[in-house]
Amino acid sequence: MISPPNSPGSGRPSFADLLELVPDATVGVDTSGAIVLCNAHAADVFGYSAEELLGSPIEVLVAEASAERHAGLRAGFAAEPRNRSMGNHEPLSARRRDGSEFPVEVSLSWVEQEGIVLAAVRDVSDRVDGELLARRLRDELEQSRKLEGLGHLAGGVAHDFNNLLAVILNFSTLAADVVVPGTQLADDIGEIRRAAERGRVLTRKLLIVGGRDTGQPDRLDLAAMLTSLRPLLLSATGAGIELRLELAATRSLHADLAQMEQVVVNLVVNARDAMPRGGTLTIRTEDADLPAYDGVPGAAERLPAGRYVALTVADGGTGMTPDVLGAALDPFFTTKPAGQGSGLGLSTVYRIVRELGGLLSIDSEFGAGTSVVMLLPAYAKVPPADASAAA
Ligand SMILES: Nc1ncnc2c1ncn2[C@@H]1O[C@H](COP(=O)(O)OP(=O)(O)OP(=O)(O)O)[C@@H](O)[C@H]1O
Ligand SMILES: [Mg+2]
Repeated sequence: MISPPNSPGSGRPSFADLLELVPDATVGVDTSGAIVLCNAHAADVFGYSAEELLGSPIEVLVAEASAERHAGLRAGFAAEPRNRSMGNHEPLSARRRDGSEFPVEVSLSWVEQEGIVLAAVRDVSDRVDGELLARRLRDELEQSRKLEGLGHLAGGVAHDFNNLLAVILNFSTLAADVVVPGTQLADDIGEIRRAAERGRVLTRKLLIVGGRDTGQPDRLDLAAMLTSLRPLLLSATGAGIELRLELAATRSLHADLAQMEQVVVNLVVNARDAMPRGGTLTIRTEDADLPAYDGVPGAAERLPAGRYVALTVADGGTGMTPDVLGAALDPFFTTKPAGQGSGLGLSTVYRIVRELGGLLSIDSEFGAGTSVVMLLPAYAKVPPADASAAA
């Protein structure tokens, strides 16, 4: 870090000191395009030492493909300097010392006294593409009313059905206690109990789909959950499928553990069923920042800008035709033979993600594979509801 000439005298922070307080990686560039100023954050982000950066042309920090164009733009800027931002409309990439490139937004400020341009560079790798998101949301808002209606109906039936199953389970347990073990009658009663247990698993899904079971959300570390779930997932997928866990340490979630496990298990079972001849199944976690966007009515309330975690389950299986993809989230939609699928897997996942305030989106190409991406709101110290109640 060097100070520009004419730093203010003692008692006041210098220009250089102030630059260290800027949260972005910041460099100062003179009219010839040489870096004459940088903060420690800039050296860090780009992988250089401050000494190496100072005196280098700014183009060393620009993505290779646009370095030449950048030099031209810089000359234009020097002829008519003004404050402006770059990268929030057209994508812009920066380059680290090791040659790797990353998406950035840059704000330019002209410091007339010094004859330099200050460029504040922000890494926006975590930021989700707003356009794509808006399209997903539009699809979802269209579909959600249908799903809510069906789900409500399913939830109502499930509630009554659950009570019936409780009676069947109770009385078959009582009966099992009084019959002689090992007899035909004991075996028959055992069958009744097992069928009722399966019915319970099914009704639990229906209750979730109907929004009647939202679980008990608590602070949850997704990567830790997936690591402890791994043995179960491996036994579900079997030998022919390679299970790849790409788990970045992410922000925490605010979610019910059993329900999040169910989300993952349902998606993994679907992926397995789509790869009868084996293949690779990838589960990935990463932080994601949502930009503010407009143009979709209701979008800002439905999915506010801010901090999220992205969970992806991707397979190289059969994929879905557009027709199947269009119906995949509907409760009871299944392409599996009778008795093998209830068609509640994806609608359960959808409902759980939705209750968390997240977004589910499915990309699938027939013959190539399927990728399910979920954006889940990160755990906040003060839940938004409390914050607004306090205001
Ligand atoms: N990863 C995938 N690859 C290909 N098709 C899929 C995938 N996931 C879901 N599908 C399609 O979507 C349909 C609905 O999936 P869903 O999980 O809701 O129900 P299901 O798997 O048929 O039954 P259930 O999960 O209740 O046992 C499936 O029958 C299948 O056609
Ligand atoms: Mg399923």
